[in-house]
Amino acid sequence: MDVIVSLCKRRGFIFQSSEIYGGTGSCWDYGPLGVELRNNIKRVWWRDFVHQRDDMVGLDASILMHPMVWKASGHLDHFTDPMVDCRECKRRFRADQIDEIDWTHYCPATKGNKFTIKAGEPCKHCGVRRTLCPECGKGELTAPRQFNLMFKTFMGPVEEDASVTYLRPETAQGIFVNFDNILQATRRKLPFGIAQIGKAFRNEITPGNFIFRSREFEQMEIEFFVNPHDRVDGRPADEAWHDRWIAECQAWFTRYGLAAEHVKLHEHARDELAHYAKRTVDLLYKFPMGWSELMGIANRTDFDLKQHAKFSGKSLTWFDEERKEHLVPFVIEPSAGVDRALLAFLLDAYREEEVRGEKRVVLRFHPELAPIKIAVLPLLKKRPEIVATCHDLRHRLTRRWLTLYDDTAAIGRLYRRQDEVGTPYCVTVDVKTVGDPEKGETGDGKVTIRERDTMQQIRVPITDLETVFARLLDAGTAWSEVAAAYPRAEG
Ligand code: GAP
Repeated sequence: MDVIVSLCKRRGFIFQSSEIYGGTGSCWDYGPLGVELRNNIKRVWWRDFVHQRDDMVGLDASILMHPMVWKASGHLDHFTDPMVDCRECKRRFRADQIDEIDWTHYCPATKGNKFTIKAGEPCKHCGVRRTLCPECGKGELTAPRQFNLMFKTFMGPVEEDASVTYLRPETAQGIFVNFDNILQATRRKLPFGIAQIGKAFRNEITPGNFIFRSREFEQMEIEFFVNPHDRVDGRPADEAWHDRWIAECQAWFTRYGLAAEHVKLHEHARDELAHYAKRTVDLLYKFPMGWSELMGIANRTDFDLKQHAKFSGKSLTWFDEERKEHLVPFVIEPSAGVDRALLAFLLDAYREEEVRGEKRVVLRFHPELAPIKIAVLPLLKKRPEIVATCHDLRHRLTRRWLTLYDDTAAIGRLYRRQDEVGTPYCVTVDVKTVGDPEKGETGDGKVTIRERDTMQQIRVPITDLETVFARLLDAGTAWSEVAAAYPRAEG
């Protein structure tokens, strides 16, 4: 993880928020490459799950909502963690995780020497186990108290109870409260889904592991509404659709680069289930700190629509023409974090290789996710014709694929830099491309394309470039197939 964090800062993927002021706890800023990667993840997710499906529509609901939304959803009463406070240093800990952190101990058997002892273990000198604050080692801890994870704020100029509202802790509720609006506007039949990508905020007590758990993050959520009376594949529709969504989500993450052996399913046990869920399956990813949740796919039953109907007094039903009855749909909810997905894609793409005795760092991003698709590089930046050709190519190619020009180092170094940020293709313009007027030589109008993973190079006429990149980047044609049509260039 440290290697990824350092690469992210060095190459402009992710910075600590407000770093010059010492940083803000667990908030992160996405730099020039990070914002491209993040947008690419959201774009392919939206394209695959919204545009390419007949049974999905999109929504962008506001972050601030009516406070009753959170009463109805159960967040005001249930979205809490049990906390204990140190009476001495005033630090706060999650009661259920306190035994998982290393603790500070002033050992009486060694004249009060200070030790840091591994989580859950006793002191090897005096045999005592932790009872005091794990951080300062001196303070008594209070009894556990429930702490709500929602950020509270005030709507309007007066800070009084009547104007209290919350930053949404999930995007899902914006979908439920718009269920009837969307039904009326689109005349959809069940089953259908509503998708949304947007920011969510949680005052996490133990944020950490870089962008894995932060206080401000983004979710990509779908609420997929099904008729609980229907049967699909001989099973209740909600159960069958739940399994379909689990398979679709798993396939999506592996399609864009996660190794199949780094992703697995976790079935929630009864006591793990949220108050609204009939069944939940998490997709776990093998993060450096261990298998952890990448996304969740829950069967939320009719809980949310019923709750909002009860609290708002508005009917949130769908009319089943066949059975001539109004019913409350069941909901399957695939819910993924953009930041967690981005971290998993980064980790899985990262490789350290040895090339001709030197270390090469490469991010083997799926081309659709790669922040920059093509880098145009001059072999000699002192030759104006080469530089002009590069700028012209960059200008033309970037209309369709984000293309960058770089001349700040020698070519070998420029290639390594692009490898390190995952650029799948480099185009190099050299003397042969433009010719040498002083020697009366005309150029051949060909450039070198270098592929990131194989480092193979081919010589391609400039006039073919757009067709070649359309095949590689839009049609997903394999490099080996495209490269077979052109002569190899020396690396
Ligand atoms: N609407 C259901 C819901 O919000 P969740 O399991 O609490 O369920 C869904 O969150 C996903 O959102 C998680 O699987 C994770 O990817 C992401 N997520 C949740 N809390 C997060 C946090 N503090 N930081 C980053 N991502 C988070």
